Amino acid sequence: MQYNFINNITSKEVKGSAIFGIFTDKSIKALNNSLKAPEAKKIKDAINKSPFEGKLGQKLSIYESLGSKIDKAILVGLGDKKDYNEKKFIQAVNAFCRICKEELLENIHFDTNSFTAKKIEINWAIRNISIKLNGIDYVYNDTKFKTKNKKNYKIKKINFLSFNATNSKKIKKYFLQGKAIANGIKCAKNLGDLPSNICTPTYLAKTAADLAKTNKKLSVKVHSEKEMKSMGMNCLLSVGNGSKEESKLITIKYNGSAKNEKPIVFVGKGITFDTGGISIKPSNGMDEMKYDMCGAASVIGTMNAISELNLKTNVIGVIAAAENMPSGTATNPGDVVTTMSKQTVEILNTDAEGRLVLCDALTYISRFKPKHVVDIATLTGAVLVALGKVASGVLSNDEKLTKKLLNSSRISHDYIWELPLWEEFQSELDSNFADIANIGKRYAGTITAACFLSRFTEDYSWAHLDIAGTAWNEGSEKGATGRPVSLLTHFILENAKSL
Ligand code: BES
Ligand code: MN
Ligand code: ZN
Repeated sequence: MQYNFINNITSKEVKGSAIFGIFTDKSIKALNNSLKAPEAKKIKDAINKSPFEGKLGQKLSIYESLGSKIDKAILVGLGDKKDYNEKKFIQAVNAFCRICKEELLENIHFDTNSFTAKKIEINWAIRNISIKLNGIDYVYNDTKFKTKNKKNYKIKKINFLSFNATNSKKIKKYFLQGKAIANGIKCAKNLGDLPSNICTPTYLAKTAADLAKTNKKLSVKVHSEKEMKSMGMNCLLSVGNGSKEESKLITIKYNGSAKNEKPIVFVGKGITFDTGGISIKPSNGMDEMKYDMCGAASVIGTMNAISELNLKTNVIGVIAAAENMPSGTATNPGDVVTTMSKQTVEILNTDAEGRLVLCDALTYISRFKPKHVVDIATLTGAVLVALGKVASGVLSNDEKLTKKLLNSSRISHDYIWELPLWEEFQSELDSNFADIANIGKRYAGTITAACFLSRFTEDYSWAHLDIAGTAWNEGSEKGATGRPVSLLTHFILENAKSL
């Protein structure tokens, strides 16, 4: 996709479709910058003749040429002007992207002015349009369309109107940030959507290794089961015991800053399929457990974005990858394992496996002397009860880190919400046979899961993101969302102070 930031459509530009945002007052004042009076009048007439009300997401297509470079105009409803804000802007951009696909738009003149009211900051707006536009061509095609050779829809060129020469230079940076985030999201979506017979722990390791080849600042190390065994990672290994797929510990380093600058470390849950193990899950909807590696996918996607942006910062992504299967060699409920931290765990439920792989990975990463650690995991069904599919849960041992993440969430609109990690919940993990039980009682499952992880993160600033609700969509939109790549990349951008 070519893109350009220009003031007006000049004679040099290609012919295309013009896109305008219109509020419910149906005023076309904001269009005056891009259109001459007779062209604007054509739009006004079309609005007057049609049932278009300017409601948020509504569309009016005007198949009439306006000047020599606009062969049609499309109006996108923005809702009431007084209610317009960032959330509405994002919905309007989503509508615009939907329309692009419906109308198969290839060359676009986007009237930026009419979409950005006072409350919308332009750099933020362009980053967000870029995230959506650059994500428009994502189609899962590894197993579905390969045989049919389906052609992807792509935008050829977009001109963002209403930029003068100085602005247009500065704004490009924000477009590129959005593009990198979009590429990270697409990468995470693809890994999430792949079935477990393709996306195995070994496949995740290969994907990380391939990514590392694209930038000198990246390097990858994959630990085998044998190596993990010698490091004492028995808890992580216990999860893959029933599977023929080898478990992997994957470390991706991005070295963009001085060696002695403390890294931010992301740790992703990479269960490539979660049957529940011997504590087997009901079969209904079990296919969705191929998404149980979306934490890992978001780590790879975010590393991808950071590397594309060549940020001056140090980030390490670690993935604990395993397949949770029942078999004669699988771990049994009641089995006790010794973790890398030497604490013992009674595995009362083999379906609470995410915390079992994460705890050893969280012990492993202390060697990197992290500035902050964020783990990302599709950890509990309970987070869906608490926060639905709107927000990921965040639980942390560091208020300052929580604040930073909440701020990134506010900017990225990749929502997270805090749940309390209070000591009152900790006693639920008491066990008669080991230091820690791997499950709590009936209630507050997201919190007791985080309590379990907190026993392994005492030495550093840490936050846990439970993305079981947000990592994929159900129903006709079924598929991975690529969340929380946007949140995590924004977090790094802020930390690298170049947002
Ligand atoms: N991968 C699941 C969590 C999950 C459930 C993600 C539903 C997405 C949708 C996790 O490994 C799991 O099975 N958790 C159990 C924990 C329980 C056994 C304490 C759960 O949430 O039921
Ligand atoms: Mn499970
Ligand atoms: Zn799981």
